[in-house]
Amino acid sequence: MNPHDEAVAFRARFGVAASVVVRAPGRVNLVGDHTDYTGGLVLPIAIDKATHVLAAPSDEPRIRCHARLYDDTFDIPIDITTCGELSQWQRYVAGVAIVLRSQGVPLRGADLWIGGNLPAGAGLGSSAALEVGVALALLTISDATMPPETLAQLCKQAENEHADAPCGIMDQMICLCAKANHAMRLDCTSLAHQAVPINSPDVAFVVIDSGVRHSIAAGGYAERRRECERALETIARHRHGISSLAELNVADLPECATQLDDVLFHRVSHVVTENERVRTASDALEAGDAAGVGALMVESHASLRDEYEVSCTELDEIVDLAMSVPGVYGARMTGGGFGGCAIALVREEAVDDLLVRCASVRPGGVRPNAFVARAVDGVQVDSVG
Ligand code: GLA
Repeated sequence: MNPHDEAVAFRARFGVAASVVVRAPGRVNLVGDHTDYTGGLVLPIAIDKATHVLAAPSDEPRIRCHARLYDDTFDIPIDITTCGELSQWQRYVAGVAIVLRSQGVPLRGADLWIGGNLPAGAGLGSSAALEVGVALALLTISDATMPPETLAQLCKQAENEHADAPCGIMDQMICLCAKANHAMRLDCTSLAHQAVPINSPDVAFVVIDSGVRHSIAAGGYAERRRECERALETIARHRHGISSLAELNVADLPECATQLDDVLFHRVSHVVTENERVRTASDALEAGDAAGVGALMVESHASLRDEYEVSCTELDEIVDLAMSVPGVYGARMTGGGFGGCAIALVREEAVDDLLVRCASVRPGGVRPNAFVARAVDGVQVDSVG
């Protein structure tokens, strides 16, 4: 739906014109997955697919909300405190309202209409885009503002506490703070972030959606988090004062191997080497070394597949397929895994070959949906009318 049609749909549903339009982009992560919740490093870009939240103030102390993607509507009091029987997508919206109010933000009643072209559950950061979009719509209508880092933390809190999804902070931060034509190197302990220029003029990012749907509210993601917590507890018995796996370096791994069981060692090995890959990849990206970034992406995929065990057959097949196309520098799964998308870094003239190859295969019986993604700015808020 184009922006004009979305505005028309808003008016048709609520009988007034939207006064705020928020465009909250999705993301792909170039390197650095399953490192954010242990305070490590990530290197995502925001992409040109976004969740749109259209909003108007209401005199009623309620939030009425319609999501086009789910063809579903709900209505909650503005002073809601728990999500009760709400469905999963409704919890993201209500959770944001609950958390903002718990911070003392005097929220006005609002009508919200949610659209855009970012698919849900594809591992493209759609939950964070929804949270950030709703938060900024509610804040704008209520004449309130907040620094992006604070807002990112509150959106994450909404997801952790009200949508039962134990996500980290990467998706909210890139949605809020991305810069066009740059990746963002983010330290998930301090939230310090730098825009890293993508200095290779002739490369493109191709996102390849496996069609396998995942939810981070499901078991595998939470289990990995718990494994990291257990590993840290064990390591801390030997190494006093350590407070996060992000404090470990590659040189510490042989010692960790003597302290941890096999599975926990592999998890830690992924986290430690992945943080190192982010450091090297951000330098390579800035230096215009696409081959260097690509090689790190391939290493990262192998580590997520073999050590962290969050890939799946379909994603592995897609990555192998992409790497068999001449001109593809690197490919890997991106995001939480267990399905969702892969990202490939591709020489521009090879993009069509890769898209054709993707259209010719059916990993797991599904034809992957591949598209070119541009690195765009973070969330945009427009007051209209
Ligand atoms: C999901 C979570 C993020 C991050 C990634 C894996 O996208 O929302 O916080 O943990 O998985 O890197």
